[in-house]
Amino acid sequence: MKKKTIVVLTGAGMSAESGVSTFRDSGGLWEQYRVEDVATPEGWYRDPLLVTNFYNGLRRQLVTKEPCEGHRLLATLEQDYNVRIITQNVDDLHERAGSTSVLHLHGELFKVTSSRNPNDPSQIRTLPYDAPDVKIGDKAADGSQLRPFIVWFGEPVPNIEPAIELCGDADIFLVIGTSLNVYPAAGLLRYAPMGCPIYLIDPADVHCPMSVTHIRKGASEGMKEFISLLS
Ligand code: OAD
Repeated sequence: MKKKTIVVLTGAGMSAESGVSTFRDSGGLWEQYRVEDVATPEGWYRDPLLVTNFYNGLRRQLVTKEPCEGHRLLATLEQDYNVRIITQNVDDLHERAGSTSVLHLHGELFKVTSSRNPNDPSQIRTLPYDAPDVKIGDKAADGSQLRPFIVWFGEPVPNIEPAIELCGDADIFLVIGTSLNVYPAAGLLRYAPMGCPIYLIDPADVHCPMSVTHIRKGASEGMKEFISLLS
């Protein structure tokens, strides 16, 4: 029998139980840093050292984190389903948990790229885990300063087209740990086929434009409940 396809949209809450800060919860990253300073092209041009050090710090933290049970349960679902993950997260915890189909919408923390042509694939490279820092003066292949391979506010989201296409393949749609505040990612639910059941795992209320089954739990406990609902 053909495997059903589960399309999963994840956000920062997916990695919260791994100890990675969310953005908009109390104590989240955007309470500690100004978005304009560290997540916009304008912030980068104003103070590349501040931005470089901010992402160096995030990389050093990520090295110490491990996938949570929720990440692992998603990976094990691949035994019975085609699982297609679309993540807003820049961490690599889905991959480290064993998921094989992960589309990053907002970039990847361990990748760096040219500040002149950030989306040119030939400019993108992956930093090693044991040397995660970038310095001012470190150059991309085209001679420009290396910048984080992160989609900043105000920049295009190159992976949104493939993400929209994936959504159309969903037999089941699952959303985990995102406040659905940031577009275009938050609009992806609208591309789920008519009649496709949508599940949402989040301990908090989330304003969602579609009718969903809300599993009001954290990612790991919520994944257990989701799996029990599938069987
Ligand atoms: P937010 O911080 O906006 O939302 C996190 C969501 O996770 C909230 O709805 C929380 O209730 C939920 N949450 C908290 N703990 C959880 C847990 N243990 N299990 C499950 N859910 C939990 O983060 P995102 O929606 O991912 O973009 O933010 C979207 C984008 O905004 C990010 O990708 C980032 C940010 O600015 C860029 O940096 C471009």
